[in-house]
Amino acid sequence: MKNCQWVLASHAQDEANETTWRLVEGEVPHPGGRQILVRTQWLSVDPYMRGKLNAGAGMQVGDVMQGGGVGEVVESQHPDWKVGEIAEGLDVGWQKYAVLTPDRPGASKVNKVDTGAAPPQAALSWLGMPGLTAYFGMLDVGRPRPGDKVVVSAAAGAVGQLAGQIAKLAGCRVVGIAGSDQKLDWCKAIGFDETINYKKTPDLAAEVGRCCPGGVNVFFDGTGGVIHDAVMKNLAMAARVAIVGRVAVANKAGGDDIGLRASSRLIATRAVVQGFVVYDWWHRREEALQRLANWSMAGSLKFREDIVNGFENVPHAFMRMMRGDNLGKQLVRL
Ligand SMILES: NC(=O)c1ccc[n+]([C@@H]2O[C@H](COP(=O)([O-])OP(=O)(O)OC[C@H]3O[C@@H](n4cnc5c(N)ncnc54)[C@H](OP(=O)(O)O)[C@@H]3O)[C@@H](O)[C@H]2O)c1
Repeated sequence: MKNCQWVLASHAQDEANETTWRLVEGEVPHPGGRQILVRTQWLSVDPYMRGKLNAGAGMQVGDVMQGGGVGEVVESQHPDWKVGEIAEGLDVGWQKYAVLTPDRPGASKVNKVDTGAAPPQAALSWLGMPGLTAYFGMLDVGRPRPGDKVVVSAAAGAVGQLAGQIAKLAGCRVVGIAGSDQKLDWCKAIGFDETINYKKTPDLAAEVGRCCPGGVNVFFDGTGGVIHDAVMKNLAMAARVAIVGRVAVANKAGGDDIGLRASSRLIATRAVVQGFVVYDWWHRREEALQRLANWSMAGSLKFREDIVNGFENVPHAFMRMMRGDNLGKQLVRL
């Protein structure tokens, strides 16, 4: 039995590529006291990982690539964990076997996955970190009210597809912005009222305005960049803007984020712009997961996964997600 790991080979300057990681083989580790050994079954690839690849962001060359995963417990030195149980944690990393410390606090805690309730990989998507981002980012930061016009960027992705549906459940009119017609079809199929393909729309600000007469009340932004600028021009009075991500500029680490200065629009509308990090809401995780599960059981929450097979393809899965080739949550099945 050997362990395989994707380790950082070089820090990325712009887009990650084949030379960013290298595959290494080693011994399977053994858990120490109150630890478990997990055989990885699923790995998540997420836009936040691009930030980890920057020099000075905490990862050294040779470190195992960090990331969330789901796996089966194959050895346990922890009284509350049995061999055969399924574990989910954000510290699994891109490796076939991982030693985890279940008692870590906050978001580093290892969670048991109830495979009777949903397939195990749901713990990495709609019943995991992306689901919590959509839930708290939309409901607590966006604070949607019935009749509000809500715009979601990266609308067909892991987070966006859920954020839009949560806004629909709150009684809003929802506009999704994404980068392909196939993605827009999916958004329409799950209830978005209007969709915009930002790659095909010459005047994005005018199109947002057409879709949101009277202005945008809630903007759930996962992209930054030109989409952000176009929506900010259309804010309604007392709008709420949730800055959830900047995937459009993620490859330009260190560069200035130059774009529209929205200050006059913010003064005129008294809008509130709030940065969002899901881990600040981790203490309310159970409440959110219960509601997401209830909506799913009632048929009001749908989601798509985009699955790449094989441990050898983890970097490929990450790169295709960053390019926008994924539809729904990008996962890797080992
Ligand atoms: N703050 C938090 O706590 C938190 C937690 C989770 C996620 N997030 C953020 O939420 C956003 C979405 O994450 P996700 O996991 O749901 O990823 P995702 O939407 O499933 O995948 C990333 C998507 O980004 C879009 N994209 C890539 N380059 C782009 C560009 N130049 N301009 C516009 N869109 C571009 C692509 O879709 P298109 O085809 O539509 O371009 C791609 O499919 C990311 O910014 C992520 O960092 C934040």
